[in-house]
Amino acid sequence: MKNQIDMQNLPRHIAIIMDGNGRWAKKFFMKRSAGHRAGAQALRRLVEEMDKAGFEILTVYAFSTENWKRDEDEVAYLMGLIHEYIQQYISDAEDSNTRIRCIGDLSALEPNLQERIAHLADITKEKTGMLLNIALNYGGRDDILRAVRQLAADSIPIADINEATLSARLDTANLPDPDLIIRTSGEMRLSNFLLWQAAYSEFYATDILWPDFKIKHLYEAITHFQKRERRFGGRKS
Ligand code: FPP
Repeated sequence: MKNQIDMQNLPRHIAIIMDGNGRWAKKFFMKRSAGHRAGAQALRRLVEEMDKAGFEILTVYAFSTENWKRDEDEVAYLMGLIHEYIQQYISDAEDSNTRIRCIGDLSALEPNLQERIAHLADITKEKTGMLLNIALNYGGRDDILRAVRQLAADSIPIADINEATLSARLDTANLPDPDLIIRTSGEMRLSNFLLWQAAYSEFYATDILWPDFKIKHLYEAITHFQKRERRFGGRKS
């Protein structure tokens, strides 16, 4: 697959909706938590390989504003797993070139986790490799609402409220919009992920369950992406 790809024309920003952990666990008669753990490992491997291959920005949907409605035990497990994941990156930061930030309304997370997230962002901010954005307590509508509130808090005159001033207050400020959004496990929904930013993104769905997702599947998605003609609403005659 990789040799069919134009490595000079990679999507700059890739976003992934990591879905199917529960179904993966069920397939092996395991608890949902085992699926999430396998999902975290799959992400770790992918990030390492993408960074090595020269990708620029990856944004992943790890916990949505709606995920709080899951079973208390599952929410607690996911939060613990995320904490562990962040801590692992803190421990490995010296040997890695990945820049890691979290996006979303982080104020709802446990203070200790917020502190670890801020620390990880701080110690990796000068890294020159791939930027990994982990979306936590993230919702596209919430992102837009928080940006609108920020416009009001900044007393921006109505005449100056436009796409640029709003975009600059989203969690993805200063980043290009995602070129490619991938969703695993066969679902065809955005599920409140990057709603504003996805206006012109190419969408790619695969039946692979997230814990089974490997870099070869990413290259498959990119092969499709590179065959599509992106018109951004325009059309050449
Ligand atoms: C969807 O699978 C996945 C999630 C709600 C969480 C995504 C989390 C991870 C991939 C692992 C943890 C991430 C980090 C950054 C440590 P699902 O449970 O909805 O699967 P199902 O639809 O098959 O039930």
